[in-house]
Amino acid sequence: MMSTNSFILNTGKDIPRVGLGCWMGHVGDSQDVGEMVRTALRVGYRHLDTASNYGNERSVGLALKESGIPRREVFITTKLAGEDHGRVAQALQTSLANLQTDYVDLFLVHWPQAFTETGKTLQPEESPTISETWKQMEEVFRAGNIILILRRCTHSYSLGKARAIGVSNFSVKTLTTLLEHAHVVPAVNQVEMHPCLPQPPLLAFCRDRGILITAYSPIGKNKFSTDPLVVKIAAAHAAKETQILLSWGVQRGTCVIPKTTKEERLRDNLVLVELSSEEMTALDNLHLSPGMHRSVCGFHSTDLGGSCFGWIYAQLGWDLALGGVASDSA
Ligand SMILES: NC(=O)c1ccc[n+]([C@@H]2O[C@H](COP(=O)([O-])OP(=O)(O)OC[C@H]3O[C@@H](n4cnc5c(N)ncnc54)[C@H](OP(=O)(O)O)[C@@H]3O)[C@@H](O)[C@H]2O)c1
Repeated sequence: MMSTNSFILNTGKDIPRVGLGCWMGHVGDSQDVGEMVRTALRVGYRHLDTASNYGNERSVGLALKESGIPRREVFITTKLAGEDHGRVAQALQTSLANLQTDYVDLFLVHWPQAFTETGKTLQPEESPTISETWKQMEEVFRAGNIILILRRCTHSYSLGKARAIGVSNFSVKTLTTLLEHAHVVPAVNQVEMHPCLPQPPLLAFCRDRGILITAYSPIGKNKFSTDPLVVKIAAAHAAKETQILLSWGVQRGTCVIPKTTKEERLRDNLVLVELSSEEMTALDNLHLSPGMHRSVCGFHSTDLGGSCFGWIYAQLGWDLALGGVASDSA
């Protein structure tokens, strides 16, 4: 069994390799998210992933507070909503108040698209652009974080409200746009990643630049756990299929943030196995089988040949050309 400890971010800080996804399939605070977080903390999770858009930061923060576990022992990620791209500091403050904490360990731009107050999507060249939003992210990161650059090593002493900053749902194309004017390289890019959407070029691009990938929907929302290859590898390790999918993710150097409300599954998802190089390659290639290359998320639209929240795939830099996308809700 592989130990489930941490990766190191480009800030020098640790991030536990397995975290708890807190998107519950519906927006808002609820008893179920609070209970899930309480149980997860009790069974050993120390990394929680939420977002302003999930509307459940209050429940997540309350569950952490009630657990009695010191704040410094838990890594918290939250995300900036599209409506807030022009007021980053204010949005962060609201998230901190909801979470009942003085800082988050990681603050991500949830999507590259910015929205107006009324929910209209702005096009990439409209203000606030990605570069303008990232400048504000850098400002909240710099405030309170003392960064020492010593030759090749970067050490940061963090007292700020966002101990690391990053992005989510960014591609090579949108990251390239961001990096053109960036002074701080994102610590993380959180994207959909599992054997049906392994995205090797994005993984390599991020790795080369010191950006850690966090894989969301890392067990593919449990939609292909019955695939014969996954079943066979699980049998060989006397493990669950979902553990094989998470082990593959961690072994290729990505953080994973599975979501489950069930205690037994929470425990299972923390236990990883060591896969052989043959098994890793077989899983890497699973998406090449007919019909397998796909997103499992329901936020895709067929408008203009494929789009998502108002940007077409070409603007997002997404390549879903090999297959279809899920039609159910995220
Ligand atoms: N940045 C973004 O735009 C973005 C987008 C999507 C997701 N995310 C993040 O990623 C997290 C995880 O993604 P996700 O929820 O889409 O997908 P996921 O974690 O791949 O799958 C969740 C589903 O799998 C089931 N499941 C979990 N563990 C299992 C196990 N051991 N055995 C069998 N079934 C299991 C869960 O059901 P039960 O709960 O019934 O067990 C749930 O239906 C989210 O919660 C969110 O934090 C981020």
